Amino acid sequence: MARQKAKDSADLDEAWRRPRPERPRSAATRARNRILASDYRSPVGAAFLVNRLHCRFMQIKDSVAVVTGGASGLGEATVRRLHAQGASVVLLDKNVERGNAIATELGARAAFADTDVTSGESVAAAIALAQEMGNVRICVNCAGSGMAGRTIGRDGTPHDLATFEWTVKLNLIGTFNVASQAAGAISKTEPNEGGERGVIVNTASIAAFDGQIGQVAYAATKGGVVGMTLPMARDLAVSGIRVMTIAPGSFQTPIFGFTTQEMQDGLAAIVPFPSRMGIPDEYAQLVQQIVENPYLNGETIRIDGAVRFPPK
Ligand SMILES: NC(=O)c1ccc[n+]([C@@H]2O[C@H](COP(=O)([O-])OP(=O)(O)OC[C@H]3O[C@@H](n4cnc5c(N)ncnc54)[C@H](O)[C@@H]3O)[C@@H](O)[C@H]2O)c1
Repeated sequence: MARQKAKDSADLDEAWRRPRPERPRSAATRARNRILASDYRSPVGAAFLVNRLHCRFMQIKDSVAVVTGGASGLGEATVRRLHAQGASVVLLDKNVERGNAIATELGARAAFADTDVTSGESVAAAIALAQEMGNVRICVNCAGSGMAGRTIGRDGTPHDLATFEWTVKLNLIGTFNVASQAAGAISKTEPNEGGERGVIVNTASIAAFDGQIGQVAYAATKGGVVGMTLPMARDLAVSGIRVMTIAPGSFQTPIFGFTTQEMQDGLAAIVPFPSRMGIPDEYAQLVQQIVENPYLNGETIRIDGAVRFPPK
């Protein structure tokens, strides 16, 4: 038995060594094979592999990106980064003055659409404008806000229902409205070599997981955004569209305009490392990585310097 095994293995070894008949191959195939046979750690081999893989990445350059809340904070940083990477960008925001100013400053490949993300017609008009600029492939949802309020006040008064509804409408329904309409536009584009048509990035908050006292409405809406990430990714997989959510910690944006410096210092102090508030471009860097990395899908990523919000 052992002798037979040794003989089989010797036969196999011999078969491997036997020269194989040359099949006719084109010059391009011969060149490619020479590179593949070389060490991929060599500069030529590495460049070849990177180039091959790159065709399968979602390309920011020459794509059209729609960014809600693009006139301020995290959205504005995303607009600037995607535009700098060669995308055409459409800022969807209610802040007409600031939106127009940013679009004018960026110049070519940038447009502002006066949009209310909670309105079906308003978003449809903005998406139509984006489609006129080219292939819509990227959608980043940053429009959002919140108001503090406990489930019952100190005197037992229940949370104002209208405020709760307003928060759900803006943060959850607004995100779904834009994501679903953008997905419709993205699904009409041609896929890249990897079968991918585009990517949707939604913005939750770490309040979805560590909601503090007074954040019941805000945390509920952000939990909703986290909750729809996987089913939306599953819905859209057939169209080659990925869906990811970012859950930021505390970032230095105008959303904290109402707070005192002392409160902001307090927010920074509880962040383990780096012990400061996030910089909006750090959020935008993550958006870029999500867009370019085809294997990120259906998940929420925290970006928070390892902070976990205490109850208050
Ligand atoms: N900054 C943070 O620390 C932080 C942390 C966690 C989550 N977030 C979330 O990130 C997102 C962006 O926050 P930010 O800090 O950049 O806020 P921001 O206030 O700087 O910007 C929000 C933008 O959304 C726009 N907007 C509001 N309602 C709108 C509507 N109905 N239609 C269209 N545009 C509308 C505003 O005009 C503004 O330009 C929000 O969803 C927020 O909840 C922020």
